[in-house]
Amino acid sequence: MAADMDDGETDVQGGPVRHIPVLLREVLAALGPVPGETIVDGTFGAGGYTAAILEAGADVVAFDRDPDAIAAGAAMVEASGGSLKLIHARFSELLDHVEEASLDGVVLDIGVSSMQIDEAERGFSFMRDGPLDMRMGQTGVSAADVVNRAKPSDMTRIFGILGEERHAGRISRAIEAERQKTPFETTRQLAGLIEKVSPRRPQDKIHPATRVFQALRTYVNDELGELARTLFAAERALKPGGRLVVVSFHSLEDRIVKRFFQDRAGKASGSRHLPMVAERQSSFTMIGRQPVTAGDEECATNPRARSAKLRAGRRTDVPAGKADADILPVPNLAALAALGG
Ligand SMILES: C[S@@+](CC[C@H](N)C(=O)[O-])C[C@H]1O[C@@H](n2cnc3c(N)ncnc32)[C@H](O)[C@@H]1O
Repeated sequence: MAADMDDGETDVQGGPVRHIPVLLREVLAALGPVPGETIVDGTFGAGGYTAAILEAGADVVAFDRDPDAIAAGAAMVEASGGSLKLIHARFSELLDHVEEASLDGVVLDIGVSSMQIDEAERGFSFMRDGPLDMRMGQTGVSAADVVNRAKPSDMTRIFGILGEERHAGRISRAIEAERQKTPFETTRQLAGLIEKVSPRRPQDKIHPATRVFQALRTYVNDELGELARTLFAAERALKPGGRLVVVSFHSLEDRIVKRFFQDRAGKASGSRHLPMVAERQSSFTMIGRQPVTAGDEECATNPRARSAKLRAGRRTDVPAGKADADILPVPNLAALAALGG
């Protein structure tokens, strides 16, 4: 599994580390911001990408769903002298805030920041005891709601599909038995149970709770749905020549980005045996033939970079295609409604 092993990097001693931007040089190369342009940074975080884009002379409209990230960015907004606008919203809400065909670039750095992981109160990490929360936006259904209330069959699907957890069924059944005695409230409580019921093999390098935590985080924040909706929104928001740059950390995310670009920048369909069907024209051309990954040096200094993959495309003047969710591999796990989410 090419999963985001955020939790593996958090066994640092001492206080929280500031988020180190991943693939920053490569992001800037693909995004190519120049003075006078307007770029959306959909994942402001600690503002690492935003600062570099401002430095290049472009204006930035940045989004983050986490109120803490927005509050921490206030000083940067102040210092920017009007070049930075910071919006507390999900990046899928892009078109509520910018005009269609108005942007020169959109960049997304999917996932959680080091600040979010390091803050025990946010409940993202099994390495730190805290409330079992994991909501980036700090509202809606929490990870505790899922493990205390979801049907075991739904949990099995969530852990199996979003976490690629081999023991999803066994873990779900154990959770169901345990929650009848003691509802889950903390990260350690859940991690402890998973550790107890998961068979370990000598070759297993990651903590037995890693995949379940990854799955819960992805599910609670609807991370894959957010990504899919935003790719379609960015296609409409970019002007001809505008660049879309996405850095992802998990194979499920990367598959969505790859499929989107295959569809939008795809080659002619049809074959020797079939007549050419009316070919839709490409709304993107690819920037770079292969996805970009981090070099040894970056991985050595920033473990989070190890699973990063950057894909980028340049908008053509062909109108945006239909936002057909079925073309993107987003698992349908709609159990949240049953939880009141
Ligand atoms: C990996 S960090 C970004 C780090 C940033 N590139 C930097 O250099 O500091 C991801 C950030 O995106 C935010 N985020 C994740 N999903 C989001 C969404 N759907 N809408 C808005 N913000 C989101 C998270 O709250 C987090 O602060």
